[in-house]
Amino acid sequence: MTDVASSTRRFTFSAGHRYQVDAWSATENERAFGRLTIPHGHNYTVDVTVRGPIDATTGMMMDLAELKRVVAETVVERFDHADLNADPLFRGKVPTTENIAIVIWDLLAPKLGLERLARIRVFEDPTLWVDYEGA
Ligand code: NI
Repeated sequence: MTDVASSTRRFTFSAGHRYQVDAWSATENERAFGRLTIPHGHNYTVDVTVRGPIDATTGMMMDLAELKRVVAETVVERFDHADLNADPLFRGKVPTTENIAIVIWDLLAPKLGLERLARIRVFEDPTLWVDYEGA
């Protein structure tokens, strides 16, 4: 029997956003989102979890240096010090913590493989986080 393990690596980036549904009036947006309609920033923390069989020879589930490189190139470089509302991935999507988790999943799934990517956890701050484990 092959042992299976989950490994998680933590990343951080700082980004700005505001909550706005483009099809809505300013009043409707304010009613739904309040002060979140005003541009502001967060220091986001992202935990990327991969899961799979442990290689009997190396004792590793995956090369976590590779995981670090892939997430840094694909996610951190793209979003650090970015205006999330201006990123095409958030066109027509409110950049909530939920949607950020989904966008990060969609960026990483082709690079890490759906059989290996297990969970994206995005912290907006230490008291609020969202988990996404695929559709
Ligand atoms: Ni915010």
